[in-house]
Amino acid sequence: MLSISVKEFLYWKKKQLSKGGDHRSFAVLLNCIGGISNSELNLLRINPERKLYLKKNLEQLEFIWDNHLLNSSPIQYLCGVSFWRDLKLKVTDKVLIPRPETELIIDIVFKIFGKQSQKLIFAELGTGSGAISIALALAYPLWDGIATDIDQNALDIATENYLNCCKETNLKFYCGHWWTPFESLKGKIDLVISNPPYIPKDTYEKLPKEVKNFEPKIALLGGEDGLKHIREIIQKAPLFLKEKGWLIIENHFDQGEKVKQLFIKSKFNSVEIVNDLSGVGRFTIGRYK
Ligand SMILES: C[S@@+](CC[C@H](N)C(=O)[O-])C[C@H]1O[C@@H](n2cnc3c(N)ncnc32)[C@H](O)[C@@H]1O
Repeated sequence: MLSISVKEFLYWKKKQLSKGGDHRSFAVLLNCIGGISNSELNLLRINPERKLYLKKNLEQLEFIWDNHLLNSSPIQYLCGVSFWRDLKLKVTDKVLIPRPETELIIDIVFKIFGKQSQKLIFAELGTGSGAISIALALAYPLWDGIATDIDQNALDIATENYLNCCKETNLKFYCGHWWTPFESLKGKIDLVISNPPYIPKDTYEKLPKEVKNFEPKIALLGGEDGLKHIREIIQKAPLFLKEKGWLIIENHFDQGEKVKQLFIKSKFNSVEIVNDLSGVGRFTIGRYK
């Protein structure tokens, strides 16, 4: 641990932020590498005369911050960590950095099932870092979950995150293309969640470089119109869902209406577009018959 005066630290912090970047990313750096939590950071100004203890010296922190600013590399990849809901997850460039808007999927599940629920089977298609499934496995220890991905590297990270976050054993991981790992669960799944790759090809080409140059293409690109994977997931869902089972899909900001029609075409009921916190129709949900 290195000791430094709060005054000196605040001066240094101001200088770093004046070079660019945002407060949220800087807080991730301080938390993960510097060892200063957000709550500690918020309290610093109250007593500027006291001492602060850092896990790494200011030069080491500055080196990472400069790299982030210069190369547009996401701070989460540089620190190897992403905070999502109340989870601290390992991330590398093999997995998508879980987004704040996706956090709402867990609240949608709470709304449908309540916070206490009997035993049931849930599945997540395309788990990436494991964020969604791990949050559900923790919230519902009686549920049995299966999380899949096409990429074994992503599954290795998701598994590591699960073992770090959770003492439960109610989540299993399988590798495979969308529904293929679920052959033995036809008609047996109560809830399916997916945040599949949904960016249309043209939009993908124009993504900011901190996304396009660093995050896995396979996690983002949804074919020509962005709906390639969503279409496949919805069309096959009736084979695997139990009667009255739920499907929750995250989609691109302008795909809600089209995704709703795909649900209806596949004979789902109670189909609804759910807004994210910025009022965008980010999720489509429905119940199979
Ligand atoms: C948008 S990311 C979502 C990751 C994570 N669930 C989240 O919300 O942060 C989509 C995930 O789907 C996976 N994926 C892409 N194509 C797939 C396929 N054909 N079958 C299964 N998973 C696939 C990607 O590897 C990636 O992890």
